[in-house]
Amino acid sequence: MSLAIVILAAGQGTRMRSRLPKVLHPLGGRPMLQHVIDTAHQLAADEIAVVVGHGAEQVQAAIDDPTVRWVLQAEQLGTGHAVAQALPVLEADDVLVLYGDVPLVRAELLRPLVDGLAAGRIHLLTVTLDDPTGYGRIVRDERGEVRRIVEQKDADADTLRIREGNTGILAARRADLARWLDEVDDDNAQGEFYLTDVIEHCIAGGGHVQAWRVDDELAVAGVNDKRQLNRLERAYQHQQADRLLAAGVTLADRARIDVRGELVAGRDVSIDINCVFEGRVVLGDDVTIGPNCLLRDVEIGDGVQVHANSVLEGSVVEADCQVGPFARLRPGTRLRRGAKAGNFVEIKQGDIGEGSKVNHLSYIGDARLGRDVNIGAGTITCNYDGARKHHTDIGDGAFIGSNSALVAPVTIGAEATIGAGSVITREAPAGQLTLARERQTTVPHWKRPKKGDH
Ligand code: UD1
Ligand code: CA
Repeated sequence: MSLAIVILAAGQGTRMRSRLPKVLHPLGGRPMLQHVIDTAHQLAADEIAVVVGHGAEQVQAAIDDPTVRWVLQAEQLGTGHAVAQALPVLEADDVLVLYGDVPLVRAELLRPLVDGLAAGRIHLLTVTLDDPTGYGRIVRDERGEVRRIVEQKDADADTLRIREGNTGILAARRADLARWLDEVDDDNAQGEFYLTDVIEHCIAGGGHVQAWRVDDELAVAGVNDKRQLNRLERAYQHQQADRLLAAGVTLADRARIDVRGELVAGRDVSIDINCVFEGRVVLGDDVTIGPNCLLRDVEIGDGVQVHANSVLEGSVVEADCQVGPFARLRPGTRLRRGAKAGNFVEIKQGDIGEGSKVNHLSYIGDARLGRDVNIGAGTITCNYDGARKHHTDIGDGAFIGSNSALVAPVTIGAEATIGAGSVITREAPAGQLTLARERQTTVPHWKRPKKGDH
């Protein structure tokens, strides 16, 4: 049987108090809707339709997935109306309904719903809640069979006491769903076409509703405001931390790490507090990351130490390098094996050769350094002339004295030495000492003025 997944994402999300459409608010660095679409892919859906309305263009632009069919629900007349808009564009036999603002739902909770569907049946996911406020209530008969779902706003006092809530997630044959939705009206407290009303039409037609009841409220929790989003964000981050701990990573504090993307770690990796990982980050074996570091889209080799307060982006750091404290590696940077970028060092599009050291207070941009180069404190590659960027090339074993300005384009030969405080504008030959500064002079017979002198 083929499967279509319909994801409802047309609502405004007023309570988020944001210009961003609700389903685009990030969780773990990715839009909530993206999480749901990823889950749909895990279920090997043959078709995925996302129903959009508020901010439809923005939502479509933010999700880069050519397999998604976008369905416009111009007016938000209710969840039933929303599903009804999607059905005509679908061909699959079975339909599973998910929500763009229920981001933590997992494929394994949904599999039983889509397995073994039959004509005239609804598979429903329900949840046991300590506080069911806001949820539709699951009304069962004396035999325990699901009879109805009653929305909070339509419920009497007895019904409100029911602690089994509707997750909103259900599955049925597409043809059945279309027929039942046709019969749904908007005669209720909110004047909406409720998806939940298909339950009664299913039963009235001799069908049967089977409920899967879960306890994991976080997995089915919806996001309506920033507080709920924050609760799910923290839960998600705890899941990421536990996954890392289970894989053998040492975390100084499970509650003080944020993974906003994908973090892959080798053996005996240790991560101190307040580190943020964004995009795809790969850490080799025996890597240690000091406190307060941000790593975005980087690859870190075995045995690397990243010291406190360093920011690394779009870079490759090969084995046994040292980075920081307070280093900044910008995109396009590669530290080759055993290299060092020390405190207050910024490197942009720098290729730093094996064993080379940029120990302190330097800016290296658009530069290639050979192996075993030593860059003295305060060295600047002057790579920008106000219009274009220029390249600096430094040969193996070169030694750049402190406080030198290398005005690009410029080449420093292998084993060259640059005297401290030099402004280098032309090629510095290999193996020689080059100085480009005023010579030191001492003025003879000079006397320091004294107070009272005339
Ligand atoms: C819905 C369920 C309720 C369930 C709860 C779980 C109905 C009638 N009620 O209530 O039983 O306990 O979810 O969270 O289904 N949407 C559209 N188009 C619309 C209306 C809604 O796309 O016309 C989308 C919203 O963007 C949202 C989702 O459907 O993602 C749920 O809609 P919402 O209005 O939040 O329903 P609830 O009142 O929470
Ligand atoms: Ca909701």
